Amino acid sequence: MPEYLLLRSPSANRVYAGEAATLSVAELELTAPFTAGASDQELAGVGYLAFSAPGLDDAASATIASQSTAFALFERSGDLLRPVALPAVDALDDDLVTIPKYQGKTNEQFTRLLLNVTLAAVTREATGPRQVLDPMAGRGTTLSTALLAGHDAFGVEADTKAFEQMAAFYSTWLRRKRIKHKTRTTPVRRDGKSIGKRFDATITTALGERQLTSFTGDTRAAADLFGKKKFDAVVVDAPYGVVHGSHTDVVGHSGRRDRTPAGLLKEAVPVWAGQLVHGGALGLSWNTLGMPREDLASVMEAAGLVVNEGGAWDRFAHRVDSSIRRDLMVATKP
Ligand SMILES: C[S@@+](CC[C@H](N)C(=O)[O-])C[C@H]1O[C@@H](n2cnc3c(N)ncnc32)[C@H](O)[C@@H]1O
Repeated sequence: MPEYLLLRSPSANRVYAGEAATLSVAELELTAPFTAGASDQELAGVGYLAFSAPGLDDAASATIASQSTAFALFERSGDLLRPVALPAVDALDDDLVTIPKYQGKTNEQFTRLLLNVTLAAVTREATGPRQVLDPMAGRGTTLSTALLAGHDAFGVEADTKAFEQMAAFYSTWLRRKRIKHKTRTTPVRRDGKSIGKRFDATITTALGERQLTSFTGDTRAAADLFGKKKFDAVVVDAPYGVVHGSHTDVVGHSGRRDRTPAGLLKEAVPVWAGQLVHGGALGLSWNTLGMPREDLASVMEAAGLVVNEGGAWDRFAHRVDSSIRRDLMVATKP
């Protein structure tokens, strides 16, 4: 079987420190089942993600090109490496995700990884673009990543300022790129009272027309905001609960419940689970220093979801800084 070496984007090592190799192997195992023997290999002092595959057809090449750390692919030929062109798979230019820089932004490569492994756990067959919801969307890294990957993107964010900055950025970016689009921001009313705002964009991408819709509001009200609409995937980077007042903190609270990320997740996971189609998947990243994996798994299971465990699923935990150890969990709705 031909053996391939995928050179990781140099920035992957900055994101995951020494753990980039482990995470990229796990991502490949889950998203590219046609590969075998994924492992980290060093060649002339450079680390590669090595794997074998029975040749790469168009769909397989696209899957490799979509890996969150993909930079360049080679086929091993004796002692030499033969470059293999990776197809351009993104529906839009990737500076849609790389230009915005702000405190509390979820790293774009990690966001792609979370999206990729969550979509890999969706068992419902795709009939068109996947419907992806980030119910704590911040300034939209997941939404933009989903659009780039060719899907429709939907969001909710409690911080009105973040919502407005996202809407302004989209409008400017789409105009500057001369992409055919329509955007509008409208007030959201319930019983005659204004309860927030809604941003809609219809974007003509390389893969066809795609939709972006995001609301201001509390994530625990996400189901009210979207009504009957259901999603193939919920992809969310939860607040880390470390810096008060920053974008990574929990916003709002219900009743006298606690304001920790764990408290928020206990209330929000059942809401998000209800917004998934059967065969849909919820992918969540969180700070394990504030909530152990077993506790989150119990919350997911109590919401009727089946947690993907074992093998590659258990190899995503990594250090972000001294107060954040990030992990991800993906659960499927039967
Ligand atoms: C880790 S950040 C996600 C950042 C986002 N992925 C990005 O790159 O912009 C968590 C987000 O959850 C939002 N948030 C916290 N509590 C919320 C709540 N109760 N309802 C909705 N959003 C909330 C925060 O304002 C923050 O934007």
